[in-house]
Amino acid sequence: MGEPEPLLKIRDLKMHFPVYRGVFIRREVNRVRAVDGLSFDIRQGETLGLVGESGCGKSTTGRAIIQLYRPTDGEVIFDGDDLCKLDEDKLHPLRRDLQMIFQDPYASLNPRMTVGDIIAEPLRVHKLAKGKERRERVQELMDIVGLDPRFIRRYPHEFSGGQRQRIGIARALACEPRFIVCDEPISALDVSIQAQIMNLMEDLQQQFDLTFLFIAHDLAAVRHISDRIAVMYLGRLAELADGESIYTNPLHPYTEALMSAVPIPDPEIERERTQIVLEGDVPSPLNPPTGCVFHTRCPYAWERCKMETPEFQEAEPGHQVACHLLDEPERRKQGAVERQTTSAAPTEDTATDGTPDEAVEESSEIIEETEEPTTNPAETEENSDKPGKTEDSSSSREDAEAPA
Ligand SMILES: Nc1ncnc2c1ncn2[C@@H]1O[C@H](COP(=O)(O)OP(=O)(O)OP(=O)(O)O)[C@@H](O)[C@H]1O
Ligand code: SF4
Ligand SMILES: [Mg+2]
Repeated sequence: MGEPEPLLKIRDLKMHFPVYRGVFIRREVNRVRAVDGLSFDIRQGETLGLVGESGCGKSTTGRAIIQLYRPTDGEVIFDGDDLCKLDEDKLHPLRRDLQMIFQDPYASLNPRMTVGDIIAEPLRVHKLAKGKERRERVQELMDIVGLDPRFIRRYPHEFSGGQRQRIGIARALACEPRFIVCDEPISALDVSIQAQIMNLMEDLQQQFDLTFLFIAHDLAAVRHISDRIAVMYLGRLAELADGESIYTNPLHPYTEALMSAVPIPDPEIERERTQIVLEGDVPSPLNPPTGCVFHTRCPYAWERCKMETPEFQEAEPGHQVACHLLDEPERRKQGAVERQTTSAAPTEDTATDGTPDEAVEESSEIIEETEEPTTNPAETEENSDKPGKTEDSSSSREDAEAPA
């Protein structure tokens, strides 16, 4: 069987946010390079997971693809059209096909609108139904996502976290889209509710032949739901492959480090594993490192990495990676051997009293840096056609509970 035709082709996508200075004469003094040259395909009917540390550009990528942000440069080819080149009039009908589910089910729903009005909004904007027909469609959507259609007149605050996320999903489904960006749709929910929402999304994907870009921090969740996984670092793609290859044969040192921190539910294997230290801070996207953006933290980095940006290329069929180690595999072997030697070497302390030396233990364990980049400017306005979004962190409640 041949490879399915991509639904979306993304080529050298860039999303830079200008930084201005001056009150009377505003001038651009720098740019936040949130997304800095991504090229990949999203296949029809697949779930593509997108992972990476906080601030690496995952949400910006999702928003730039569906044109909630108009990209600085690059192409997003959908149905033969480059979305980036279309003006708003031509883009409007295509927006039906490209939807988004937001991370925070509390902040992404307008508290002054009833559930019925929230779900009906895309139908109204795209003039798809009105009156009784619109109301019936909303009730049908509520039923599809597991909400009682009798609650159509209730307000978002009367629902629990999981139920609100179902409202967000119903809204995204209203126009029968083909592609949905799911931006950490479960991370604000209680663990017990997360599985329900994941299952719902899988069912809907099958039922409506949907294609998902599934953004997440939780690598276990991504593995569960994704056909392929893309790993992002500081606005660039580090690696992209099917889930199995990413977990068992990571080729990029950053992916290797991320995977070494994922626990394996087998105590034997878990004991044998060497975890990888990532030293240093995540650089700022205002001033990304030269050459390979990961070189400041990469345990394998050498001179070439500081000078030359690695190409994002196919290492084996269906497995793309951006790393100079592809040309010099012996450096990887050497690095792995050195790491094993370091983690296995007994220290003075262990030799005398059997207590592991803290310093050595620290250096053989991954220290996953989760710091935000130094800059986090306020987000820009989104397209009015899309659900309102003023995300902040908030807690969640039981999904099972009925609205008050
Ligand atoms: N509207 C904006 N204006 C300026 N900078 C922005 C804007 N939106 C995002 N950024 C910056 O772009 C970078 C990437 O942000 P983004 O939200 O895409 O990261 P993320 O990977 O989704 O992070 P998280 O996992 O925390 O959600 C960050 O440095 C962020 O501060
Ligand atoms: S190119 Fe060099 S610095 Fe970048 S990931 Fe590969 S080895 Fe590390
Ligand atoms: Mg995000």
